[in-house]
Amino acid sequence: MNTNYLVLVNKDNKLTDNWLDTIELTYAKDIWGEDMKIEKETRTQFRKLREKLFKDKIYLLLDSAHREIFEQEYIWNKFEEEFGLEYTKRYVAVPGYSEHHTGLAIDVCFIYDGHIISENPELAESKEVFEVIHKNLADFGFILRYPEGKEEITGYGYEPWHLRYVGSVEIAKYIYANNLTLEEYLKI
Ligand code: DAL
Ligand code: ZN
Repeated sequence: MNTNYLVLVNKDNKLTDNWLDTIELTYAKDIWGEDMKIEKETRTQFRKLREKLFKDKIYLLLDSAHREIFEQEYIWNKFEEEFGLEYTKRYVAVPGYSEHHTGLAIDVCFIYDGHIISENPELAESKEVFEVIHKNLADFGFILRYPEGKEEITGYGYEPWHLRYVGSVEIAKYIYANNLTLEEYLKI
């Protein structure tokens, strides 16, 4: 497989139609115990990240990984109905333009201190837990894709739960150490 782990998908860059021919998809259980699709190496690295965080008493769970276009459409419509168009544009990609179509992006939630933290408002409040999660990401090749204060560059509001596998521990560490977004890294 000739997977481009640095593929850029954002509001200006749609995923190419042949993308799925270039990756190996496999399955992982989501928080409800249902199978969801995820790129193979991303799953391997996610499992290692989870093992590490378990030592820090954080039990990481997968809320979302690979999404088909119709699944993104469903999410978009649900958000628009519930929160309105402006909010939806800040937090949900237009179907076809979501990083979740790549299989390299995951949304995480977790069990901490005996509580399942999975809804966006509770996740947003879990700053201390996310601090621990975020500082471990690069060791496994993940980056925080939509950091705080970078909305102008990424096009999306802060999403502490949305992680992106970039295929290289070295690159992830460089992005983290220099406080970059994927957009900024790819321009260098
Ligand atoms: N929440 C991210 C931006 C997505 O919908 O892909
Ligand atoms: Zn996401």
